[in-house]
This record gives sequence, structure tokens and C-alpha cells, in this order.
Amino acid sequence: MALNHIEQGEVFAWRKKQLAKGGTSENLDWLLDFAAGISWSDLQKNHIDSRFFIYPTQSLDQVELMWNEHIEGNVPLQYLVGRCSWRNFELEITPAALIPRPETELLIDFALERVDAGNTGYWTDLGTGSGAIAIALGRALPKWQGHAVDLSNDALELARRNLQKLSPASATKCLLHCGSWWEPLKPWWGLFSLAVVNPPYIPSGLMSELDPVVRENEPHLALFGGEDGLQATKEVIDGANNALSKGGLLCIEHHHDQSDFVLELMVEAGLDNVEFEKDLEGVRRFAIARRPCLN
Ligand SMILES: C[S@@+](CC[C@H](N)C(=O)[O-])C[C@H]1O[C@@H](n2cnc3c(N)ncnc32)[C@H](O)[C@@H]1O
Repeated sequence: MALNHIEQGEVFAWRKKQLAKGGTSENLDWLLDFAAGISWSDLQKNHIDSRFFIYPTQSLDQVELMWNEHIEGNVPLQYLVGRCSWRNFELEITPAALIPRPETELLIDFALERVDAGNTGYWTDLGTGSGAIAIALGRALPKWQGHAVDLSNDALELARRNLQKLSPASATKCLLHCGSWWEPLKPWWGLFSLAVVNPPYIPSGLMSELDPVVRENEPHLALFGGEDGLQATKEVIDGANNALSKGGLLCIEHHHDQSDFVLELMVEAGLDNVEFEKDLEGVRRFAIARRPCLN
């Protein structure tokens, strides 16, 4: 059913009413854009020029119900609209998986600048969640074969839908596996030229300090990495020497204060070319290493 256009000034009055309930204007404008197709620039045009009409894709009453759920129930907006933007695509998002974070977008760039996209090879995305990393790798490395792993079957189903929709060509070249880290990939051990991993890395003791929007909604399997936050990271690094090909690259994201520990774990595991990369805020957020060519 087509919706009527919105009168001049109506959205601004509506915004004021919603913000009085709480939340940030940044989040409210994101919701208006994603849920009703009302961008900030359309709002401005409508404000300045009464002949510029806004035609929402969803009524403001329906958007208000979502905002209420966000404010009263701490539900992330991405779960409410079921979508989120990440790199140059828009993913389906459900509470089965972590909402992909902007810093993880950089992990893809750091990985891709270290591999030869023109070659053939095998990549893996361990802990794929929504499939965000797998889609980015599948698109950038069309000649390679991909393997995405997760312990959660529900997350894998979501990743499958996202891969089929957003990267149909590479979906046929990406196998999905349910299991723990390297374990389901045993038949391919020794073949992986690239592993990109965003493991659960928050120390469990920090649970009470987390924003309730995160703590009460996103899967704990995707967030917490045991007492020191490093349980999953240790398992991934421990398996790298068997699973990577000689010279194969491992790129891991970690908590803002884990850089020294993760780099040390990589050195102890006998990996080579151990280095860090920083996120957009200048924080050492990624650890990168290679399996030695000679072992
Ligand atoms: C931090 S989330 C990352 C999700 C996605 N890669 C991203 O960057 O948005 C960690 C993922 O690891 C998965 N996971 C947790 N334990 C696992 C295990 N033992 N083996 C495989 N995956 C696991 C979780 O289900 C979750 O999807």
C-alpha cells in the first residue's frame, strides 16, 4: 500500500517527541533512514522547500513502535530493522549473530593487501556469524575457494542466506561448516593461504560493564572469550601451523588491550612476520602473522 507524503515539519516534530523518550539523534536518524527511507538530506530539503515531499516506505507510527522497543527494551536497531550496512553491502541481520562492527571492515583491507587476489587459493573465515567477512573475501578473491565456520547453526543459516544474496558467484565456491574453529576443516588442513578471524574476545568479567544493548541482545557465544577473553584466540593460533599452508596468512581481531598478549601467542606458536595493525582510532586492534615457509 502506498503511503501518503509527510507534511512539512511533521518529521521534525516527530523526532522531537521520540528523542524526549531517550536515545541519540544519530540512532534515531539511522532508524528513519533504514526503516522508512527518510534520509537526513531529504529531511533538510523538505524543511527548506515546501514543494519537496517525503514519501516514507513505512509509517512514522510503525517506526515509533521500533524506537519504543529500542528505548524500553534495549534492542539494537539493526535487529529491529533486520539489516545493516557493512563495507559496500547491506546484510540481513538477526539475533543469531553479532552485528558486524565497523572496525572489522579494516581487517579485510589488512588481509587483502597481503595476498595475491589474482592467484587461486583457499581462505577461511572462522566464526563467520552473519557471513560479513566471508562475503567480503568471496567478492575480493573470486578465484579462491572459501570455507566459513561457526559453532552456531543459526548463525550459519544466516550466513548462507547473506552469501547467496550478496555474493551469489562466490556462494557456490564457499563451503559452510558447523563446528569449532579449525576442527571441521581437517580435510583441508595445510591448504589455507588466508585465515581471517574475529573471535569472541571480551573477558567474561567485563559482562556487567557492557552496554545493555549489547549484553542483553547479542549472542554471548559471539562476545565472550572466557576469563581472559583469549580462549578462542589461543585455539585459533594453536591450530594455525597445521591448518595454514606454508607462508599462509593469519589475521585476527582482538580486544583493545590484548595486542601484546596476542602477538606473544603468535611468536610462541612459531609463527613468522608477526605484526600489529591499528583501528581508525589508532588502537592496536589486529594481529597478523604467517606460517613459516620452512617448517
Ligand atoms: C565476534 S563474532 C564474529 C562474527 C563475524 N565474523 C563478524 O565479524 O561480525 C564471533 C563468532 O564466533 C562464533 N564462535 C564462537 N565460538 C566458536 C567456536 N568454538 N568455533 C567456531 N565459531 C565460534 C560465534 O558464534 C560468532 O558468530
